[in-house]
Amino acid sequence: MKIRKSKINDIEQIVNLWKETGLYFEPFDKKERLIEKIKNEPELLLVAEDKEKIIGAVIGNYGWRVSIDHIAVDKEYRKHGIGKTLLGEIKRNLKAKGATIALIDSNLPKKFWDKLGCNYRGKYYNYTIKL
Ligand SMILES: CC(C)(COP(=O)(O)OP(=O)(O)OC[C@H]1O[C@@H](n2cnc3c(N)ncnc32)[C@H](O)[C@@H]1OP(=O)(O)O)[C@@H](O)C(=O)NCCC(=O)NCCS
Repeated sequence: MKIRKSKINDIEQIVNLWKETGLYFEPFDKKERLIEKIKNEPELLLVAEDKEKIIGAVIGNYGWRVSIDHIAVDKEYRKHGIGKTLLGEIKRNLKAKGATIALIDSNLPKKFWDKLGCNYRGKYYNYTIKL
């Protein structure tokens, strides 16, 4: 398994992964936006790859607000530290752009984010993570 920057050819597999994990949301995740993201900031759309199969992905948003979105790992590959590794890499790449903190909006159990060193902050964008 390796973590790498995304490529245009990955789009179909990324979208399928997001659909399978329930993260896909058409207005934001449409192909045109993915192409733009990959052309401009491939280091902020990372994938985990195993034998040419995309088994994980994560997005970093570096804008007015900095956030980490759409972290997903294929069901068959969960609980092996891939999510944690993806998070570590996207944190590193956001930090390299100058960010010091990122927002995470998620309905996963708080226990999960606690384990990854996140701080709970309330309902909306309910977690932050130090970078
Ligand atoms: C969330 C997700 C990315 C985690 O991927 P993963 O590769 O299984 O995560 P890891 O193996 O790196 O787990 C990191 C730690 O969290 C724990 N963990 C993983 N999933 C958990 C869960 N659902 N609830 C509580 N703890 C969990 C692991 O046991 C591990 O702890 P450890 O280091 O003490 O062993 C994956 O479950 C997924 O794709 N979920 C569906 C998509 C989703 O809801 N994404 C979040 C949207 S923001």
